Amino acid sequence: MQTRKDILQYWEDKFLHRGLDSPRLSAQVLLAHVLNLPRLEMLLSIGDTVDAQSVMDMETLASRRISGEPVAYLVGSKEFYGFEFHVNPAVLIPRPETELMIDFLLATQDQNGQKTVLDIGTGSGTIAVSCAKLFPYFDLVASDISFEALKIAKENARIHGVQDKIAFFQGHLIEALRIRRFDIILANLPYVPATSRSSLSLEVLEHEPEIALFAGPDGLDCYRALATDLRNSVEPGAILLCEIDGSQGEAMQDIFSFCAGGVRVVQDYSGHDRVVVVVF
Ligand SMILES: C[S@@+](CC[C@H](N)C(=O)[O-])C[C@H]1O[C@@H](n2cnc3c(N)ncnc32)[C@H](O)[C@@H]1O
Repeated sequence: MQTRKDILQYWEDKFLHRGLDSPRLSAQVLLAHVLNLPRLEMLLSIGDTVDAQSVMDMETLASRRISGEPVAYLVGSKEFYGFEFHVNPAVLIPRPETELMIDFLLATQDQNGQKTVLDIGTGSGTIAVSCAKLFPYFDLVASDISFEALKIAKENARIHGVQDKIAFFQGHLIEALRIRRFDIILANLPYVPATSRSSLSLEVLEHEPEIALFAGPDGLDCYRALATDLRNSVEPGAILLCEIDGSQGEAMQDIFSFCAGGVRVVQDYSGHDRVVVVVF
């Protein structure tokens, strides 16, 4: 009989050999999923033997991993800001860099404050649901152009017990929401330049939704359209946070300077431009 340790070592070596990211962690996450245990609990009894069915289940999942499927889609979940989110290939896998937006809100907003907040391009609902958990008096709306993504976002809101705190809308940018006024707008819209397609890994290109990734030649088509949409739809003093990549800070200042009172760019913990803060 093989032990957990034997199986982890075997698949870690295979993943490493294939050049996959985080081979040890991936093997652990997959085996913990197969055994239906929290990862750390599984590791505490690493010498335990594994039954034949679980060995086969691990083989199936690990082989799919070797073919390039992301771990998060294989196990159906991903952690974001300490909360576990259900994901499937209809939604972008939440990225750790997006947590900066939540850090920024925690640093600048009163956790007991009452604000109207819109999360545009909510995807799996990570930003809206995390806000609902951390800011109990926020009045939240989450929107996405993708109906399938909204289904996942609603499910995540239900899993985290905040389904009554978030209204969901399907639509393009702020379409259907023009009649509402928001104090805070959060936007992690697609921003990968079409010209950077070849620099993305096959894992991303073949498995994550195009509509969550690309936005025109320089990646800023969605944010340009948003600037036009918001020009007459926000009250003075409202703030907009947009996630970007490290090369887009200056272009975003140009895009929003014509409609805003102030625009500044916040760097992530690696020192790269990551969040644009627009004050109307
Ligand atoms: C980069 S993903 C972000 C998902 C999620 N907010 C997160 O941080 O993990 C962008 C999301 O924007 C949505 N989207 C793309 N174009 C859109 C548009 N024109 N209007 C509204 N949502 C859009 C996509 O369906 C996708 O869910």
